[in-house]
Amino acid sequence: YQRSVLPSKFYHHGSPGAHSRIAVVGTGNVGASIAYALVLKDVANEILLVDANRSLAKGQRLDLDDASLFSATHVKDVTLQEAGKADVIVITAGARQKENESRADLIDRNYQVLESIISAMQPIQKDAIMLLVANPVDVLTYFAQELSGLPRNQVIGSGTYLDSSRLRGFLSEVLEVNNESIHSPVLGEHGDSQFISWNTANIAGQPILSFPRVANLDKELVREKIAGKAMDIIKLKGSTYFGIATCTASLCETIIKNRRDIRPLSVYVDRLGAVMSMPAKLGWYGVEEIYELNGDPGEEQKLVDIAQEFKKTCKKYEH
Ligand code: LAC
Repeated sequence: YQRSVLPSKFYHHGSPGAHSRIAVVGTGNVGASIAYALVLKDVANEILLVDANRSLAKGQRLDLDDASLFSATHVKDVTLQEAGKADVIVITAGARQKENESRADLIDRNYQVLESIISAMQPIQKDAIMLLVANPVDVLTYFAQELSGLPRNQVIGSGTYLDSSRLRGFLSEVLEVNNESIHSPVLGEHGDSQFISWNTANIAGQPILSFPRVANLDKELVREKIAGKAMDIIKLKGSTYFGIATCTASLCETIIKNRRDIRPLSVYVDRLGAVMSMPAKLGWYGVEEIYELNGDPGEEQKLVDIAQEFKKTCKKYEH
């Protein structure tokens, strides 16, 4: 891997593991499931819930109160202003994908929502980490970087962490190896143009393509299966939330505990001038490093194409 270093913070909000507060903005299925996962995992001292529909946030808070009796986490419902003071601010608010709609189709609606949320949260705590979950997550992460006033490395998106987890789950069955021992990132975009980095994928340091069971797979079919899983779920039950909630709670834990895990996240890649899903080191101070791919020309071309598409999308919103 080549490494590019992002500026990291030299000051900090408390210290990792000190009294910690996570705000969840948007308490629909995704936000509520994230809060529930955070309560079960006992990640933070406080979870702050906020929704444009205040009675929904209050209802979720009362329900989660009952769940939190079994943990040390305290759940509150708050205003956007108060949410802006949290250590980690998770943004789930916005329209969700419907059947036969791509994540990219949500941009108009969700840009508006994001803009109004961020302005209502100001002044945002200067050391906060903002974690975008609403879709299209890579593009919204970029707008949050522009609108929030926070350093770019403190504003990230869940990106292709979920897609990568889905792929590991699939390959785990193919190879009969626990998914945690499989390194196979899905990168680029948490959307239709995502790709699998077969050239960096490995188990036990061995290239994954050297295993006949993987070499013999139809790679495009695997890509479509992983990229299409959200739509498979949407067709059956209307929306996805348990998977993304589990990934998000795990990212919150990575931040709060300063674990410095490397995860495929939506991050600003300077060299390409775009926010895209790339492996990045995450901790209490945000993203500290982005790890580039190994230079395979096919994968590089995919990154370039995704960056170009990204810039086209963003141009429309630049005033
Ligand atoms: C999914 C949503 C989070 O992939 O985009 O399930």
